[in-house]
Amino acid sequence: MIDRRTMLAATAALGAGSALPRPALAAALSVKSGAGPVPAFPKDFLWGAATAGHQVEGNNVNADIWLMENVKPTTFAEPSGDAANSFELWRTDLDLVKGLGLNTYRFSLEWARIEPQPGQFSIAMLDHYKAMIEGCRERGIAPMVTFNHFTTPRWFAGQGGWHHPDAPSLFARYCDRTARHLAGGISRATTLNEPNLAGLLGELLPGDLVAADKATQEAAARAMGSDRFSAGSSLYVADPARFRANQIAGHKAGRAAIKAVRGDLPVGVSLAMMDDQAVGPNSLRDAMRERFYGEWLRAAQADDFVGVQNYERKVWSSKGLLPAPSDARRNTMGAEVWPGSLAGAVRHAHAVAKVPVIVTEHGVGTDDDTIRAWLIPAALRELKVAIDEGVPVLGYVHWSLIDNFEWLFGYRIHFGLHTLDRQTFRRTAKPSAAVLADIARRNSL
Ligand code: BGC
Repeated sequence: MIDRRTMLAATAALGAGSALPRPALAAALSVKSGAGPVPAFPKDFLWGAATAGHQVEGNNVNADIWLMENVKPTTFAEPSGDAANSFELWRTDLDLVKGLGLNTYRFSLEWARIEPQPGQFSIAMLDHYKAMIEGCRERGIAPMVTFNHFTTPRWFAGQGGWHHPDAPSLFARYCDRTARHLAGGISRATTLNEPNLAGLLGELLPGDLVAADKATQEAAARAMGSDRFSAGSSLYVADPARFRANQIAGHKAGRAAIKAVRGDLPVGVSLAMMDDQAVGPNSLRDAMRERFYGEWLRAAQADDFVGVQNYERKVWSSKGLLPAPSDARRNTMGAEVWPGSLAGAVRHAHAVAKVPVIVTEHGVGTDDDTIRAWLIPAALRELKVAIDEGVPVLGYVHWSLIDNFEWLFGYRIHFGLHTLDRQTFRRTAKPSAAVLADIARRNSL
């Protein structure tokens, strides 16, 4: 849908300026470093990189977002088009993963391809993903499969999407059919990607942006000849409570469907998590944590693991968000890049969900690859401290394997370990790829 952390960064505008004296603020914002010897990561630690179908495959024409990219008005900067052409070039992508010495590839299935019409399942598309899973296995890579990464089929969105009372059972049916075809080869599955922020962004973002997103969805409804349209992930959500309740029910039903096919397949859900920090008396931190992650972390208590996706920290006073320090390193959108945020988010996820954690996304949108090359080891050093404290972390998956379609922002924001030439589809490793590869190969910093 969008770079969610960037959108949340917009909430800073809503936060009052700091009420703290400058020295207290500076101390609160200073980087704490986990100094000391850093031994190896746990045996069998998962080292991976991630992509998502709509962002790399290209021509995902039956998806809700494809329609939203191509209607007028649209909030999308540009259409996804061919993306990285990974629908054709997935073998190249797997070779990149293997070439970096990573043992895990996280990718997603496109529900819109697998079930292009309600109840009509495409064996050819299921075979496509089966070949990818087998391709991973042939290369010694564990396939970590996201069943739904934001995009839903057009027909699903056109009947109200996650608002529809049948949404949980429709998702469970999709999970059942898909698991029957694919579960044998998958190493770990997640149902939904970052559902915890659904419906919250609309309350936080500038009203004109949310209104523009609403207008885009209305245009999509008109294009479909429907009186409704609700995308799998969007800024505007008509009834956030219903949407969220149905997604939680969908996650549980989807998990049950996958488990019914293969009971020993670990299943979880990936959540978008800041590292929320408290400053001063009566910080809003705990209330914000509850609002953004509470119900989903509790839902994850019944899962085999929880996926943590972290890109930023948020520092909360009693009045709102504190600004980042003036000397902070920043991403393309101007938000702070702070290496300790990953460990902080992981600690909180485990404290509430009480299940093992997999970092299913972490990275930075920047054209300055030296920031990425600095961030990866610095964040992993802090993560290792959390592991040494006893937090069970099973793996680290970097977002993203290649530069790709960054939702509303189109191709302008670059998260990849590899660049993408949009004319030739050639992928070229950035120096940061070697940094991650080196750590993964040694299983140590
Ligand atoms: C999503 C990705 C997105 C990335 C960077 C996550 O919100 O899962 O689809 O590209 O972060 O914004």
